[in-house]
Amino acid sequence: MGKVARQVVEQAGINVNELIGKLVRAASAEFTTYYYYTVLRVNSIGFEGEGLKEIIEDARIEDRNHFEALLPRIYELGGALPRDIKDFAKEAACPDAYLPANPQDMKQMLSVLVEAERCAIRVYTEICNLTTGKDHRTYELALAILHEEVEHEAWFSEYLGEGPSGHFRRGAPGASPYTGRFMTVPK
Ligand SMILES: [Fe+2]
Repeated sequence: MGKVARQVVEQAGINVNELIGKLVRAASAEFTTYYYYTVLRVNSIGFEGEGLKEIIEDARIEDRNHFEALLPRIYELGGALPRDIKDFAKEAACPDAYLPANPQDMKQMLSVLVEAERCAIRVYTEICNLTTGKDHRTYELALAILHEEVEHEAWFSEYLGEGPSGHFRRGAPGASPYTGRFMTVPK
């Protein structure tokens, strides 16, 4: 861990153990969502499902990227991932994004997807609010992830017919235009 890196955050008035807890729960939500989005993407088939497949894939790979980007900051601050993956999964900051009862119903599928993104937006907004002006590195990281979660919500919401998102596709799935620079492993 970075001794001074943690100390300056404490001195700025942040309860670092509490912050680490939030980062671990956020990392767990990314990891579990990556898993659940794999199941959702695989089941996104047929005339309606096929069009959804690519944006699910984009959100899926970017969630994995978010996990990778969060990981070093947890350890830098003196935290760690739980030893047992089952304990880790139980701590997730967002509910399990289960395959809906009828996977053929793309409305049901989309509502699972959009709710997962909305939860993530709340999680990173809370971390940004907690760290702004105090823990610059965590703030910038959480803000980068927040940008991508907001885009994911916009795409799924547009699919649900809730109004235009104003976005156009960004290129290859998993590009992580905001979070990429925080990753210490290849995207
Ligand atoms: Fe994410």
